[in-house]
Amino acid sequence: AETIEPSLNPNKIMNVAHRGASGYAPEHTIPAYGLGQQMKGDYIEIDLQMTKDGELIAMHDETLDRTTNGTGNVKDFTLAEIKQLDAGSWFNEKYPEYAKPEYAGLKVPTLQEVIETFGTGARYYIETKSPEVYPGMEEKLVEILNEYNLTGKNVPSSKVIVQSFSADSLKIVHEMDPTIPLVQLLWYDQPATLTDEELEEYKSYSIGLGMNYGAIDEAYVQKVRDSGLLIHPYTVNETADMEKLLDWGVTGMFTNFPDRLQEVLQKR
Ligand code: G3P
Ligand code: CA
Repeated sequence: AETIEPSLNPNKIMNVAHRGASGYAPEHTIPAYGLGQQMKGDYIEIDLQMTKDGELIAMHDETLDRTTNGTGNVKDFTLAEIKQLDAGSWFNEKYPEYAKPEYAGLKVPTLQEVIETFGTGARYYIETKSPEVYPGMEEKLVEILNEYNLTGKNVPSSKVIVQSFSADSLKIVHEMDPTIPLVQLLWYDQPATLTDEELEEYKSYSIGLGMNYGAIDEAYVQKVRDSGLLIHPYTVNETADMEKLLDWGVTGMFTNFPDRLQEVLQKR
């Protein structure tokens, strides 16, 4: 019988280190990802933006302002220019309780650098951010995944998950390589609902859904589970919320504190 990869098995709860262990270190830096691995995160979560010269970098915002000492849109700067920036000092200023001298001067990593640092032994949960701003970002992503042998028949299907709020972006990836597992991200500004038709549509290209955890309830979680999709709410940082969501039947979650989730999971 075909074995189910551990991390795509709905009974194995996925601990996704959101932007790395970003509660403890500057998000989307090598130290944050490294801490996520140390804290037993199953996945390194990476948000992608694309530079003026077409390189994929790990950054959440479309602008440089919040997480570096630069200003302006990522798309207007080359990788060489972005590499001049300090991606760590903001964290030391904002979170003095977790500040470390070595965070000052950290560089913005490219996707390739992250993969080269953590290797094919790690798992990556990669988000195409603002794909409408970056034509070609999916092609570039799949090219990099192929280059590092993170895709294809002989690779465990759980190695890389691609996620996006954009169904169009996910469908582009799906067309290029239908073996890459995809997660459709959703955002609800009121209590979440899902129709059978919506579930069917999501199932046509994705293996799971991710949504803001505050909008869902047990019935929603069960409806997603009954459809056969995985469900990974974001961004869950408090132990009590982790417990509640696990009781409801989620199959994993995004957290800035993977150590907290690991502790919760170990006790269950
Ligand atoms: O990717 C899951 C979650 O990270 C989505 O929200 O804004 O943190 O990327 P955001
Ligand atoms: Ca994300």
